[in-house]
Amino acid sequence: MVEILPSLLAADFTRLEAQIGSVERAGARMLHLDVMDGQFVPHISFGQPVVKAVNRITKLTLDVHLMIVDPDRSIPAFVEAGADQILVHQETCPHLDRTIRLIREEGARPGVVLNPGTPLGTLDEVLEILDSVLLMSVNPGFGGQQFIPSVLRKVRALDSRRQEQGLGFAIEIDGGVTMENVGEIVRAGVDWVVAGTSVFGMPDPGAAFAGMWNAAREATLVRV
Ligand code: DX5
Ligand code: ZN
Repeated sequence: MVEILPSLLAADFTRLEAQIGSVERAGARMLHLDVMDGQFVPHISFGQPVVKAVNRITKLTLDVHLMIVDPDRSIPAFVEAGADQILVHQETCPHLDRTIRLIREEGARPGVVLNPGTPLGTLDEVLEILDSVLLMSVNPGFGGQQFIPSVLRKVRALDSRRQEQGLGFAIEIDGGVTMENVGEIVRAGVDWVVAGTSVFGMPDPGAAFAGMWNAAREATLVRV
């Protein structure tokens, strides 16, 4: 089932409860939280205390995207804070299989993220133990960037591989999603679409969410 995941990075941090409430009432089921450490990516966003606070004010599934070096050190603290799904970058994990297993042992659903320049083949040996694969459609670190269209080739290739191998992981995309490109993204095989600027950057995030969700659902009816 296709889902739109509003990305908290684009929200008004002085009104988090109201902002999250607006997308929750509009039908959102998952919320995407970008954790940045100022090392793997240039800026620092927020960490475990914010995840914990968000978890107290919403029932939404928390999809926590770790853009941090050495994520193994912090995974238990993020699960403790309320992360339901934890996504780590392949580029930060020399022992990827171990990290994925650690996420599951701690009690969250594991996902792996690939930067636009990282090939799908780097996940060959772990696809069957993953709940989700997130393909970055911008280089990570900032909201509001332009979608990189060539990622759709990667989506189609990953979707074919998923079908060939009979695997059940979700395909997620993150970065530069708009009302204009969401249909094409979903038709390529994406299940979970992260959207920051196009939802929380809008004057009425609930209405923006609902518009995107409708566009995405309509597109699934004509998936090619
Ligand atoms: C970028 C983050 C994204 C970001 C997306 O590094 O991982 O989740 O919030 O923002 P938009 O939708 O504005 O590109
Ligand atoms: Zn993200």
